[in-house]
Amino acid sequence: MPIKKFTVFIVFAVLFSNCKQKPSEIIVLQIIPNPQNQSINEGNFVLRDGMGIQNDSDFNISADFLKNFIQEGSNITLKENDDIVFVKDSNISNAEGYVLDISTSQIQIKTNSAQGAFHAVQTLRQLLPVGFENGSFNKNEVVIPCLNIEDAPRFPYRGMHLDVARHMFSVEFIKKYIDALALLKINTFHWHLTDDQGWRIEIKEYPKLQEVSAYREQTLIGHFSDQPNAYDGKRYGGYYTQEDIKEVVAYAQKHHITVIPEIEMPGHARAAIAAYPELGCTGDSIKVAQTWGVFEDIFCAGKDNTFNFLETVLDEVVELFPSNYIHIGGDEAPKTHWKQCPDCQNRIKEEGLKNEHELQSYFIQRIEKYLNSKGKQIIGWDEILEGGLAPNATVMSWRGTNGAVEAAKENHNVIMTPTSHCYFDYYQSTNEGEPLAIGGYLPLEKVYGFNPIPEELNQDESQYVLGVQGNLWTEYIPTERQVEYMVFPRILAMSEVAWSNSENKNYEDFVNRVEEFNKRLDALDVNYANHLYEVEGDLISENGESFYTLKTLTKDKVIRYTTNGSEPNEQSAIYDDPIPFNENMTVKTAVFKNGKQLGKTFTEYFNYHKGVGKKITISPEPSKVYAGSGAQGLINGISGSDTRYGDKEWLGFWGDDVEITIDLGEEIEINTIKTRFHNGQGQWIYAPKHIEFQFDHDSQIIEVPHSKDILVNVLFDKMVRTRYIRLKVPNYGIIPEGKQGSGNKAWTFIDEIIVK
Ligand code: ACM
Ligand code: ZN
Repeated sequence: MPIKKFTVFIVFAVLFSNCKQKPSEIIVLQIIPNPQNQSINEGNFVLRDGMGIQNDSDFNISADFLKNFIQEGSNITLKENDDIVFVKDSNISNAEGYVLDISTSQIQIKTNSAQGAFHAVQTLRQLLPVGFENGSFNKNEVVIPCLNIEDAPRFPYRGMHLDVARHMFSVEFIKKYIDALALLKINTFHWHLTDDQGWRIEIKEYPKLQEVSAYREQTLIGHFSDQPNAYDGKRYGGYYTQEDIKEVVAYAQKHHITVIPEIEMPGHARAAIAAYPELGCTGDSIKVAQTWGVFEDIFCAGKDNTFNFLETVLDEVVELFPSNYIHIGGDEAPKTHWKQCPDCQNRIKEEGLKNEHELQSYFIQRIEKYLNSKGKQIIGWDEILEGGLAPNATVMSWRGTNGAVEAAKENHNVIMTPTSHCYFDYYQSTNEGEPLAIGGYLPLEKVYGFNPIPEELNQDESQYVLGVQGNLWTEYIPTERQVEYMVFPRILAMSEVAWSNSENKNYEDFVNRVEEFNKRLDALDVNYANHLYEVEGDLISENGESFYTLKTLTKDKVIRYTTNGSEPNEQSAIYDDPIPFNENMTVKTAVFKNGKQLGKTFTEYFNYHKGVGKKITISPEPSKVYAGSGAQGLINGISGSDTRYGDKEWLGFWGDDVEITIDLGEEIEINTIKTRFHNGQGQWIYAPKHIEFQFDHDSQIIEVPHSKDILVNVLFDKMVRTRYIRLKVPNYGIIPEGKQGSGNKAWTFIDEIIVK
């Protein structure tokens, strides 16, 4: 009798060869990304020595993969038999869909495509014990429950990006990365090969790209905003030879993964210009960049020589990558030099362009035309919308989702990679022990909750959303272990965003599957961040009283805590009921299982003040992607992280003037009001220039001094009697020329409002 279930939680025993029910180990297996439909049936299939795989040649890649996986993973040797069969099924309409049907006598993989067969194999792989991953399953048979899985992806484009320009990683590692994408049914590897800090692809026609552009003299130490900047004094670099590239592309093909190369233009071109100064507007000799950020040295759009260079580069690129798409960058190209350059200005005149934005559009369109003539399509970051979109371009929307909305409404394909949900270079935990990151805050749950279809699109327009992609920029990620740490487990969430239907998504269920999946990652020697055993706290207020609630997501654990600042241990109070909050306190808490602490201790400092739990309204509402824990989070006694704007305590507003009103319930005396603003200008976040405090009987404007500090404190310090406190926080305005994000609206991020 089939048991229809929304998630498969298979608990089965590995049996001895006589098939008696003698469980030697209990294995819990769950699939990521969650398949569309799955049901467990009664009975088992026993895969044993001497069985075999049968397939026609269309499915060779998948059959070989499975054969190697089984034979290298266990003591099972396969022969020529039809115990596992690949069946071509032209009724399966989705180009990557498959059916995996396991009965007591046979495993059938039905599909209409080689890709579908490969995905089926990855599902079957996840049904086998993790010991298969590293050859430690030393038995010659394994029991698999009978089941039926009908599966197909939600989106055709499921991507993962890696920046190898800021830091470079070995070919072996790139293959390991591709392995992980394959396991998660991610079908595209976006390889960011060129940038200001290094050019990493061999171009035979231009040897100085290898000699000069591939190396920088030294690298920034610490964070870009640390002052003063310090450098390590060590030459850094390297590049992938064309042989390396061919090896990676061939490897990816064996995993049904498309490699899309990115060759950045017209911006992020400093490394190329360092080798060939004539490619820039000024002809000045410059160095390969040693620090991070956005540079004004971009390819000159006025000289035909620039296009000759890029076309020659692309000729070689096109030969190496069979992908239909070539990514041409297009982002973050300051127009400072173009405005001064006689050649660029000439081009504007000759082509009848209005301004430098149209010149950018001219640049991209000219390259698009060239690549189209070679049978390739372009993808560009959403700045390629500036000055008019190239006719056939696909847009990668990263500065939020507006670019996607605009492009889709113009009938262009889009790929969703907004910073708010897809930038895996952001912090993933508020724990202080995290490795240095660029900033931001993108925990697993937020990735998981991403809905790739922007609300502004109707059903027809949303057909242009090809899919989603996680991005990993590596300014602050020097090692392969750290790449993995930043990517895992967030890529698991992204795989499910990309593959699984939204009705099949449930975070709590996902987290429990992640806990299990981590054992597979251990077997694969993949490094991952493990924040599963962290505790999440929330303040609730009822009838003028406030309480702190704690929760953790994985099953069968207890939370213990202290409120006196001591470390929690196996004797500490078990959390059952919300903790009253009516004075300053420090809550330290951790997750325990069988008397053993799992994960790190979580600490929350509570600053009890007159605003805690009162009524608060905010107009307009914060941006949906940085809504923290809502308005109440500004008066919950908890301050946000010093580095991670975007945690639950900070609220973010894009371009709006904000009005915040706190109702204290009755007129009382207050002496100080303190708050603070995030001022991470590299991320387009600016403190306001002033704020106004309004009370029942008076008001005061406080000037906020201009600062480069990441945090800007504001203090109102005067005794007043009032029931209402209103803060008027004007937006900083448009980001000035020469700064990152210039010409865009600034973000405002505000933290706790502490009323004493
Ligand atoms: C980007 O993050 N500059 C696309
Ligand atoms: Zn120029």
